[in-house]
Amino acid sequence: MRKPIIAGNWKMNKTPSEAKALVEALAPLVADAQCDVVVCTPAVNFAAVSEAIKGTNIKLGAQNMHWKESGAYTGELSAAMLKECGVEYVILGHSERRQYFGETDATVNLRTLAAVKAGLTPIICVGEKKEEREAGYTNALVAYQTLIALSGLTAEQVAKVVIAYEPVWAIGTGLTATDEQANETIGVIREAVRSAYGDAADEVRIQYGGSMNPKNCKGLMAQPQIDGGLIGGASLKAEDFSKVVRFDA
Ligand code: PGA
Repeated sequence: MRKPIIAGNWKMNKTPSEAKALVEALAPLVADAQCDVVVCTPAVNFAAVSEAIKGTNIKLGAQNMHWKESGAYTGELSAAMLKECGVEYVILGHSERRQYFGETDATVNLRTLAAVKAGLTPIICVGEKKEEREAGYTNALVAYQTLIALSGLTAEQVAKVVIAYEPVWAIGTGLTATDEQANETIGVIREAVRSAYGDAADEVRIQYGGSMNPKNCKGLMAQPQIDGGLIGGASLKAEDFSKVVRFDA
């Protein structure tokens, strides 16, 4: 049985004091969660959030990292820097990074290898754009994105990563994939993992992301392939996020 994992992707929201307040409000609401609970905050909030989550079941996540260990990469953060700040998870290849910051499948792969090597759990994002779905490319595309991202990992390592299926057209738009669409595409991702890594496919956790909220989380989480959610907008309010963590409104 795969343990579900619900992660909040705060994106470029919350200052350190706001982050502290959010996590302090969240902690009691999710204390009895049956799933793993992660908050992926901007890096300037690592200190405030890691202090606020002490003694709770909430884990700290980052939203990106560089693949090099150190060097002349102005503005970037290494895996070791994240680790020392208490980060355990890192989102990689989010569609906003792909769209606005030149992220490619090849660089997602480099980041994944570096994250796993450092002992961080990557949350690798894949997903199709609206026109790609309409053209019938969804399955081929998500399989390809997934296999490139994982390339170079062992089956044992693949079993421990998290993949987030996020249809680009559903992110921040209020449009959600139907429960069946999300389940089907996540099943395609799992079979792609199986084709290269065998039984690791039964262990790898695959989340859905894209306008997931207290109203639709129950139906999505009831699907057999869906192991959790990557939550943007609804992760910015403690009450909403805690409802998603409980898979219930
Ligand atoms: P959303 O974002 O829940 O606001 O659609 C999800 C994400 O981008 O990870």
